[in-house]
Amino acid sequence: MLRIASPSARTPLSISPGELRRWQRPNDQLSQHHHISWKRGCSTRKCRRSSGRQAGRTSWAFPGCSGCGDASGVSSPTRSPVQSSGEGIIGRRRELDALQSWLSGATDGGGRLVLCVGEPGIGKTRLAQELAGLALAGGTAVAWGRCVEVEGAPAYWAWRQVLRSLSIDPDIVLTGDLDSPGDRFRVFEDLTEALRNVADQNGLVVILDDTHWGDEASLLLLRHVANQIGDARLLLVATFRDQEPSSILARVLPDLLRCPAVERLDLRGFDLAEVSQQLATTTEQPSDQDARAVLDVTGGNPLFVREVARAMTDGTWRPSQPPRTVLDIVTARLGRVSPDCRRLVQAAAIVGRDFSLTLVAATLNEPVAQCLPLIDEAIGYGLLDRVGEAGEFRFVHALTRDAVAASLTSTDRAALHRAVAEAIEA
Ligand SMILES: Nc1ncnc2c1ncn2[C@@H]1O[C@H](COP(=O)(O)OP(=O)(O)OP(=O)(O)O)[C@@H](O)[C@H]1O
Ligand SMILES: [Mg+2]
Repeated sequence: MLRIASPSARTPLSISPGELRRWQRPNDQLSQHHHISWKRGCSTRKCRRSSGRQAGRTSWAFPGCSGCGDASGVSSPTRSPVQSSGEGIIGRRRELDALQSWLSGATDGGGRLVLCVGEPGIGKTRLAQELAGLALAGGTAVAWGRCVEVEGAPAYWAWRQVLRSLSIDPDIVLTGDLDSPGDRFRVFEDLTEALRNVADQNGLVVILDDTHWGDEASLLLLRHVANQIGDARLLLVATFRDQEPSSILARVLPDLLRCPAVERLDLRGFDLAEVSQQLATTTEQPSDQDARAVLDVTGGNPLFVREVARAMTDGTWRPSQPPRTVLDIVTARLGRVSPDCRRLVQAAAIVGRDFSLTLVAATLNEPVAQCLPLIDEAIGYGLLDRVGEAGEFRFVHALTRDAVAASLTSTDRAALHRAVAEAIEA
């Protein structure tokens, strides 16, 4: 059962995947009758221009080119992760209300770029799925692209998926020499125009997920589209983690934030009532005390709450032993920081969730001043937070600290325990 927030009411509706397909039908019909075609010899300005530029190669028409006699199509997003997760959405009323109003604005010709930001597991993709459901329910097409961390992924990877889910051959649009500014600009313009043409039908939602992993070309293209979105029937949503300081996105982000039609949605952890609601989907209705304990350990991060709830249900939950998935997430993040930063974070995990830098520096036998940049690095990667007093820090979640401690070998853990004890006594 997929729960979709009703466009007209504040209470979410629950609809089955079958009903969702019926809601999508207007799109399916459109895509059958007006599927995008690329063909030779069109006489309109846009297509002539493309044919000319593609001289000697197969010329092509723009999707939706009236001169070709084909209205641009909207495709049902068969490749998008819009499928029901089987779980209803919890909370996020404020965000959904905002998204609904931006969606309405976009379908009326006031396009927007929405930056949906937050730590891993906070619910960016889940929220985007809910938006996709809303859009589909209103007959607006949705296209997804996901950036990937894998090395060697082709340039424009996420945009390739977007084009494919709109039945546009990416190899026709995303051509040319990546290193040639002229070629790049033409690609940017062509893709923008292709999206605008599809969006002209009944609006279009494009979701680019995990843009913190985006390649440079994809992100510059995102910036280009975003800068021309103001009068398009296009809602562009980019999700990203704000804890990947080394990503290319960090360089492009200031420009994205300066786009005229940009909105930013920062997702926070669930509150007590929401944690309780999420726990109740896996376990029995938890007591207030249990929900509070889970909120404390997870910081309300829905992914962590879900994993703790599962561990509680299958009896593997031990307060000092984070679930395997949480461990994997934190270990992966630890793998990205510099070796010195990792050493500092591991020493801090032995001291406790809250720690003073003076004690950790003494444990490592390093001057405090030398540790400060390492602390900044760990904060940048979303492992630590500053607390009130200067020199006092804490792990973002108790689970993060547990996972760091659990990632140590028993020998390293014992050595660090000894070093902490010596630093305290000194
Ligand atoms: N609002 C919500 N209601 C119910 N469950 C949620 C909600 N948000 C997130 N979840 C649960 O938490 C899990 C993680 O959410 P999601 O994958 O959306 O996180 P994310 O922010 O996209 O993480 P990442 O940065 O790793 O991609 C989901 O699988 C879902 O089960
Ligand atoms: Mg995600």
